[in-house]
Amino acid sequence: MKKVCFVCLGNICRSPMAEFVMKEVAKDSPLLVESRATSNWEHGNPIHRGTQAIFKKHGIAYEVTKASQQISVSDLETFDYIIGMDEDNVHDLKRLSAGRFDDKIFLFVEGGVPDPWYTGDFDETYDLVTKGCQDWLHQIMLAERDLFS
Ligand code: 4NP
Repeated sequence: MKKVCFVCLGNICRSPMAEFVMKEVAKDSPLLVESRATSNWEHGNPIHRGTQAIFKKHGIAYEVTKASQQISVSDLETFDYIIGMDEDNVHDLKRLSAGRFDDKIFLFVEGGVPDPWYTGDFDETYDLVTKGCQDWLHQIMLAERDLFS
């Protein structure tokens, strides 16, 4: 079992979208998928209604009880793939890692996923997240051939 964590600023828009899209895309795979925030700004808050609307529109199962949680050093130890949704997220993750877990920290997609908290465009987020999750599943399957064989 490999453990994947998607990380964004608030853990209410982009990273929970990636978490539940990946759970759908990788539903037959030996992956544990979660998501976290780099900040504590939204701590305990539910998934943004824009992201929930996307789940409903595309028939993606999700947990209504999912609440924003800030990433910790212990999470950096636990997860095998820690994937920041944009460059700022990766920068903040590397600062927390302080060189200890940098080999497990990745950028979700070149150029990053624009934040719908500011753009309001959750459909654009969904398109990027869906493509990115398919690419990541493929990449993880190649890297973890033994696990998937
Ligand atoms: P997210 O979006 O990082 O995709 O969850 C944001 C959510 C909340 C805030 C910023 C971005 N905020 O400023 O509280």
